[in-house]
Amino acid sequence: FEGQISVEEKLQKVCQLLSDEISHYNWVGFYFKNGDKNELKLGPYVGAETDHTIIPYGKGICGQVAESNETFVVPDVYAQDNYLACSIETKAEIVMPIFKNGENIGQIDIDSHTIDPFTDADTKLLEYICNKVSEII
Ligand code: SME
Repeated sequence: FEGQISVEEKLQKVCQLLSDEISHYNWVGFYFKNGDKNELKLGPYVGAETDHTIIPYGKGICGQVAESNETFVVPDVYAQDNYLACSIETKAEIVMPIFKNGENIGQIDIDSHTIDPFTDADTKLLEYICNKVSEII
């Protein structure tokens, strides 16, 4: 039954759905706080394999969002100095924090091969997704 699949499998399905349905989402994944450490650990994702399976807080777009608690929209990754390149094809990125009981416990990370592709529609959709994810984890 659908209700019996694990949280990991559910998050994997969310990544797959977003990646399949939205043409400017070329890498979709989750990072979560790694235990008590001030670092993020890669969770379920769809897209190219990445070297960044562990990201210290403060490093890259993801590490900055872990500290700022705010969504980070990057229209052009080449204009960022604190950025961790995942794929040379990536042009833009959006990272949105996921809160559970008021605590920033992780994030959804989306890379795009299109420059400046993200609009309010993406922000609204991802807010909805992050709220739903927060309920199931
Ligand atoms: N670009 C991210 C690293 C993660 S990869 O995009 C999957 C960053 O700068 O934090």
